[in-house]
Amino acid sequence: MRVLVLNGPNLSRLGSREPDVYGAQDLSALRILLVEHAGDAVEIDLRQTDDEAELVHWLHEAVDTSTPVILNPAAFTHYSYALSDAARMVTRAGIPLVEVHISNPHARETFRHTSVISAVATGVIAGFGFRSYVLALDAVRGAA
Ligand code: DQA
Repeated sequence: MRVLVLNGPNLSRLGSREPDVYGAQDLSALRILLVEHAGDAVEIDLRQTDDEAELVHWLHEAVDTSTPVILNPAAFTHYSYALSDAARMVTRAGIPLVEVHISNPHARETFRHTSVISAVATGVIAGFGFRSYVLALDAVRGAA
């Protein structure tokens, strides 16, 4: 089983970007954590882009290949209807899609309290640092 772990804008800067909010570890540390947690039966396909269109295309790929998705849409969470529509296609196809956030957006600025993804996601996990992704992996493993 393969799992797509898709990360949106500015998450390439993990480790140096606001470490008080997002922690001191970078994306390669996240990849190692997930690969270790996944074991041999699950292949972790972790990607990051700052490009909304690329993220949309990766969700199309998830539909076409029936691949479960762990999605941190980053700032796109709060306003990208294109991403919301693409995420809806994933879950409408019966494929699990878990929205994750490193921080708890609800404990932050007001603009972060809105997610246009949550209503079309299978579920949402937020506020546990990189453990949000680990919990999401357990969730998609159980759901797939
Ligand atoms: C984030 C929260 C978003 O509000 C923010 O724009 C991000 C990261 C998180 O993982 O906590 O870039 O998705």
